[in-house]
Amino acid sequence: MADLKTRLGNLALDNPIIVSSGYATETPHALRKADAFGPGAIIIKSSLVDEEYSKVVKPYAPHLYPSCRGAFTSCEDGLLVTGAMSPWSLELWAEWLAKNVDGFHSPLIASVAAVSLEGYVKGARMMEQAGAKGVELLLACPAPYFRPFKYSMNAEPKVTQEICQAVKSAVKVPVGAKIAPMSVMAKAAKAAGVDWITLGGGPLAYPEIDLETVQPRLPTGLFICGTHVNKMSTFYCLVSVSKMSADTHFSAHGGAQDWKDAAEFILYGASSVQAHATFMVKGFSVIESMRRGLAEYMDKHGFSRIEDMRGSILPKLLTFNDLVEAYPRTKGKIVALVDEANCSGCGICEDVCAYDAIHVVNGIARAMSDRCEGCNLCIVDCPTKAIVLKNTELMRRSAAGV
Ligand SMILES: Cc1cc2nc3c(=O)[nH]c(=O)nc-3n(C[C@H](O)[C@H](O)[C@H](O)COP(=O)(O)O)c2cc1C
Ligand code: SF4
Ligand code: SF4
Repeated sequence: MADLKTRLGNLALDNPIIVSSGYATETPHALRKADAFGPGAIIIKSSLVDEEYSKVVKPYAPHLYPSCRGAFTSCEDGLLVTGAMSPWSLELWAEWLAKNVDGFHSPLIASVAAVSLEGYVKGARMMEQAGAKGVELLLACPAPYFRPFKYSMNAEPKVTQEICQAVKSAVKVPVGAKIAPMSVMAKAAKAAGVDWITLGGGPLAYPEIDLETVQPRLPTGLFICGTHVNKMSTFYCLVSVSKMSADTHFSAHGGAQDWKDAAEFILYGASSVQAHATFMVKGFSVIESMRRGLAEYMDKHGFSRIEDMRGSILPKLLTFNDLVEAYPRTKGKIVALVDEANCSGCGICEDVCAYDAIHVVNGIARAMSDRCEGCNLCIVDCPTKAIVLKNTELMRRSAAGV
């Protein structure tokens, strides 16, 4: 059976499936339920130190203070969330953690939010002393009540670096940075020496439009989670940091619903995968099926360790440069050729060709190699797959019998 062990910096994990910070980890009851299903780690709901907890929500969302807990509306495969602050400040979490951490099989990681440099440092120290096995700094939350503060969830790489550096030198446990999904932020966190970087789509995506009713499918772009949009944006983020992933642990999040999504994230370069909405919608037993599905997949495809599988899709992706460099080599040398037996004479190829290089004559398409640019468009569009691209050099040689 494949070995699912992986790491967050020097913190060893039994498997790469992490319950990310949020509603599903905001009470001791929820944390115990998650632990029973054997995740690689659990990240406790983010919170702030006492004096900052009230400073954040009270002035900007007074009607949500002091009970700024989550409330949910179902939205297709995800949830629409309102509120969602931790019911406890970090002081209360630290008190609970110190008494209970030893009862957990999975490593418990603290998630520290703050609105000042001192708040991040104080919160991280407090949670380390209470027994947290690692600290994840929340540096990417879309809640508007964090925005006015410089040392908070803003998108300033210099500030991100400063916060990460200050916390790294204040604690001994591994430190992760959950950042806005931009490679400049990843570079800033890496320069600060954090042990892992959590990046991905996050609960931010713009909803599709229902064209029939001319309405957005969901009423807002904020706080949407668990959709395929998130998964795609996480792929994008992983590709954008792929040069850094050789020596940095990336923990991907955003849209992981099942083992297949987890496998894709790892193939794109993640060392671990954080999921949340799927547990809120289907329950924590998904952790078991994610572990099992991932291990079976690895066995089937010959990946004996997560490290062997990590990033292995990347060399198979063409970059923009690959495409641009390849194009001139094909120009005029590779042309369309019609297999007449398969052609229905529908004329789509003639419609789409910008070079007037293919015409339907007597019900059959005929390509003109002297005009064809080998762009491939008619081949993609032909409904009966009657067109192929042929290398003119090979055609010339085979006609000449060489
Ligand atoms: C209700 C709710 C509350 C959340 N609260 C936090 C939080 O306190 N800290 C944090 O880092 N992420 C928080 N998140 C984000 C999740 O950890 C996760 O990164 C995000 O939902 C994307 O992953 P998913 O598509 O698997 O849900 C929250 C998400 C939800 C749905
Ligand atoms: S699109 Fe295909 S089937 Fe239609 S005319 Fe062109 S070659 Fe024939
Ligand atoms: S490959 Fe491009 S240029 Fe050539 S016939 Fe098809 S559409 Fe026209």
